[in-house]
Amino acid sequence: MSAKRVLAINGSPRRSGNTATLLEEALKGARDCGAETELVHLYRLRYRGCISCFSCKRKDREHGICAMKDDLSPVLERIREVDALLLGSPIYFMNVSSGFLAFFERLFFSNYLYSREIPTVFPKVMPSALFLTMNMTEAHVEQFRMRERLDMLEMTITQHFRMKPRQLWAYDTYQFDDYSRYESSIFEESAKMASRTNKWPLDCQEAYRIGRELASSHE
Ligand SMILES: Cc1cc2nc3c(=O)[nH]c(=O)nc-3n(C[C@H](O)[C@H](O)[C@H](O)COP(=O)(O)O)c2cc1C
Repeated sequence: MSAKRVLAINGSPRRSGNTATLLEEALKGARDCGAETELVHLYRLRYRGCISCFSCKRKDREHGICAMKDDLSPVLERIREVDALLLGSPIYFMNVSSGFLAFFERLFFSNYLYSREIPTVFPKVMPSALFLTMNMTEAHVEQFRMRERLDMLEMTITQHFRMKPRQLWAYDTYQFDDYSRYESSIFEESAKMASRTNKWPLDCQEAYRIGRELASSHE
């Protein structure tokens, strides 16, 4: 049997930040199960979100293809070829990053039809995972009803990939190498450090486990 191809999409501008680290861990897990892996940093690319041209909905055009041609085009094509997809974004203003959202629009709106019979033209069942990293603690996530706010992500992914994404929400992330150099009095550095020391390694382990699981799933 040929090796599974696992693609990860980093929706953070930081190439070695929390989101990228979790994605790298997951890819390591996938590689340890024999998969071939790739990582795309969205913020290295020049592209825009959906411009609502509706080319993807025209009856006389091929569906599932975004007509915008830019650095994202080969990434969207690659997604159709791989066997599993890892999506990662930091939380910015209670949402995914703008770069990630622009990517999300392009990928999923082009595969969506305003059709009762055919809700998606994405060509196959796609195992996937969603990694979100944030400053908020788990208590904040509940307080601000973040799961409900971001429900659209899971719903949309499930509709197009025909299976739910695995999810990892990494709370209370460490944002700066040295908190003393930044105005950051709303954070208790010792609490952040405790989270970095005790919780973050578990998040990384969970990412690694998800990567292994996706690389060995039989979907
Ligand atoms: C512009 C901006 C907005 C942010 N807004 C939020 C927010 O609303 N909620 C939150 O929990 N964290 C917020 N954060 C913190 C990041 O989500 C968090 O540090 C994340 O782990 C960064 O991921 P990265 O290291 O992959 O870039 C924000 C960070 C930035 C730069």
